[in-house]
Amino acid sequence: MGVPSFRDGLTRHGVRRTLCRVSLFEQLPDRVSLYEVSPRDGLQNERLTVPLREKLRLVDALVAAGLRRIEITSFVSPKWIPQLADADDLCKHVFRPRGVALSALCPNVHGLERAKAAHLEEIAVFLSASETHNRKNVNKTVDNTLSAFADTISGAHDAGIRVRGYVSTVWGCPYEGDVDPRKTLTIAQRLLAMGCYQVSLGDTIGAGTPLQTKRILTLLLAEIPTEKLALHMHDTRGTALANILVGLEMGIRDLDASIAGLGGCPYAPGAAGNVATEDLVYMLHGMGIETGVDLERLVEAGRAAEVIVGRPLPGKVHNSGLRSLRA
Ligand code: HMG
Ligand code: MG
Repeated sequence: MGVPSFRDGLTRHGVRRTLCRVSLFEQLPDRVSLYEVSPRDGLQNERLTVPLREKLRLVDALVAAGLRRIEITSFVSPKWIPQLADADDLCKHVFRPRGVALSALCPNVHGLERAKAAHLEEIAVFLSASETHNRKNVNKTVDNTLSAFADTISGAHDAGIRVRGYVSTVWGCPYEGDVDPRKTLTIAQRLLAMGCYQVSLGDTIGAGTPLQTKRILTLLLAEIPTEKLALHMHDTRGTALANILVGLEMGIRDLDASIAGLGGCPYAPGAAGNVATEDLVYMLHGMGIETGVDLERLVEAGRAAEVIVGRPLPGKVHNSGLRSLRA
């Protein structure tokens, strides 16, 4: 998968036109909605399984910081993701304050039955834009995965459960390299047509660069309203915030993040966690964009996450601490 160089950027016709049209920071929102994924995307990737009480402590710290949409676990096969085998128990014990929407990954109707028993109000179905990653992740072709979602999504709606969708490997696949954004468009449209309220676009391996993000979103936003799309940017190569800024400029208002940068995908070797929530919030608040989150408490949650997993985590702001945003 080639990273376009600056020279390429200036010589490729499409890229030159894009560069001329970019006018930074003219269309930033007043507010964005954050979707926290650390208890799921973060803890699924830990070498050791975090004890249930520590998972509950993490969710409490996230809620205390003001996060209102949190993906707390996965109802997947415990053989595939043993780190989240306690999903049913977690849901029994988790504190659910009013106004906080808790969600869980759900690959099939078996997972949906577990979500119903857990009284979750939201689930997330997931698949990849590339065949090889999809097969390694859920053991099916992309087409078969989509077909099977019909029952999961309609069953969720019958039970009053909202459904979010993920498309992984949008910015590149660890097995196939470049991925045609038209595949992502087709899959996202099918997920929305089946009733997902929103589709989160995953840079699963954290390979994306800003012009690539602009190209992908230009294609998708020509067909899909901005409020139907979210960004889920892993930060393996340090480009997540830059890509998110492009998304904000293009109208995206829903951003996934993971406290302290916890996480990765077990079927994307070497991938780092999602953009650190506290780093994202630091940038957003510094630009006058509201999140409803208390940054100081988020920093505390980042430090708590390090204690919970017993190792330093890559997020920058919980390590550096805050400075006055007015300085
Ligand atoms: P399979 O082996 O093909 O499934 O796995 P199966 O239907 O043949 O069933 C096999 C066994 O699994 C049976 O049990 C089923 O009961 C059980 P057995 O008879 O052998 O004892 N089973 C289940 N158990 C509990 N809950 C369920 C469930 N379904 C079946 N829901 C399956 C297919 C999808 C289940 C498997 O591949 C799986 O669980 N994969 C999980 C993959 C995963 O969680 N990956 C990480 C999350 S995705 C991600 O991180 C990307 C994302 O963050 C976005 C991004 O970054 O791009 C979302
Ligand atoms: Mg992910």
